[in-house]
Amino acid sequence: MRFDQMSKAELADVLGREQARYDALKAEGLKLNMSRGIPSVEQLALSKEFFHNVDFDDAFSEDGTDCRNYGVPFGLPELRRLFAEIMGADADNVIVGGNSSLNLMFDMVSQGMLLGLGGEPWMKQGRVKFLCPVPGYDRHFKVCETLGIEMINVPMTPAGPDMDEIERLAAGDDMIKGIWCVPKYSNPQGYIYSDETVKRLASMKTAAADFRIFWDNAYVVHSLYGGDSLASIIDECAAAGNPDRPIVFASTSKIVYAGGGVSAVASSAGNMKLIKSRVTAQTIGPDKINELRHARMFKTVSDLKAHMERHAEILRPKFKAVIEVFEKELGGTGIAEWTNPRGGYFISVDTLGGCASETVAMCKEAGVVFTPAGATYPYGKDPSDRNIRIAPTSPSVDDLKKAMELFCVSLKLVSAKRIMENA
Ligand SMILES: Cc1ncc(COP(=O)(O)O)c(C=O)c1O
Repeated sequence: MRFDQMSKAELADVLGREQARYDALKAEGLKLNMSRGIPSVEQLALSKEFFHNVDFDDAFSEDGTDCRNYGVPFGLPELRRLFAEIMGADADNVIVGGNSSLNLMFDMVSQGMLLGLGGEPWMKQGRVKFLCPVPGYDRHFKVCETLGIEMINVPMTPAGPDMDEIERLAAGDDMIKGIWCVPKYSNPQGYIYSDETVKRLASMKTAAADFRIFWDNAYVVHSLYGGDSLASIIDECAAAGNPDRPIVFASTSKIVYAGGGVSAVASSAGNMKLIKSRVTAQTIGPDKINELRHARMFKTVSDLKAHMERHAEILRPKFKAVIEVFEKELGGTGIAEWTNPRGGYFISVDTLGGCASETVAMCKEAGVVFTPAGATYPYGKDPSDRNIRIAPTSPSVDDLKKAMELFCVSLKLVSAKRIMENA
């Protein structure tokens, strides 16, 4: 039954029943941290080959490059080809970077601020602003916050950001220099940008000639069921006459080892000329030994896809377990809406207004740590205190069921209290 249609007595019943369940769960002494989306140990075991597929005497790439020494600043050709294929780019316009794509993103935004990205340095032009589809990825927002960039919230829809709003804002302010996008299996909803959204982003009028799309394709191959496609932002921007607009990122953090993978950036030939000139000022060469491990493990995109299917086999039951608990506990109550992603690392829950922080606090009190409420918004401030990000990848299915039961019980208690207070 919907909570907002319950009488006071019925709500009091809910409170009594759920409080007893909460107390019992708390007494179990749960201890679980679900605050970040990290691969489980079972997933890490899929890449054991990494520990023995490169040897001191056998550390040469396909063209004979000695990976133990300096050089090859843009990455091994075989790995650039692999990334080019999954990122929808030309291999010449791909650079393989260090262990973190977030690091590349921070660097690229810093370059925009300090040196410009095809125009004057942004910080010389005035107060820099970015469009931030919300809820979104907390660390994108932290990059902007750290560099003093003002963030403008734009609501997400299942097809991507609200494009009417994006077009209106981008056309009206030449200090809006960028937008953050996680276009496939978005963090935290798991949404995929529609072809129309990609086309509109590529072709929209922007007041800033040096407006850039930060296309963080972190989950490009992280499908649970297969068969999901995403239009190529690089091709669409080129077709719309805006070839330099997109800068595309990816990494293998959630393919092999989180923090032990490699990252990549791809863009137009024009942007790449600029970025390459800066990369050669930053480094004498990347970690090619790690690149070689990747190149040997993933000789083709088919190898990579087969590996990702093994990840999916581990992850599907976890996503399913969360959705089943939600349906059983919250279905028909009207106190929450949740996404049911086909890939990526997260599930997004929207509670009634003003219920998210207290729900997360109650779970913590009973031993389960979720991503802090508000984290999915710039400055950590969710204006209506509704959104909670669930990261189901790391716990076991049994732990996950228990944690989600606690989550639902806590949410029911907070929601019933809130409805009674507002009646
Ligand atoms: C959307 C998104 N981008 C980037 C990252 C981090 O990637 P990396 O480990 O390559 O820095 C994450 C990790 O959670 C993410 O969710």
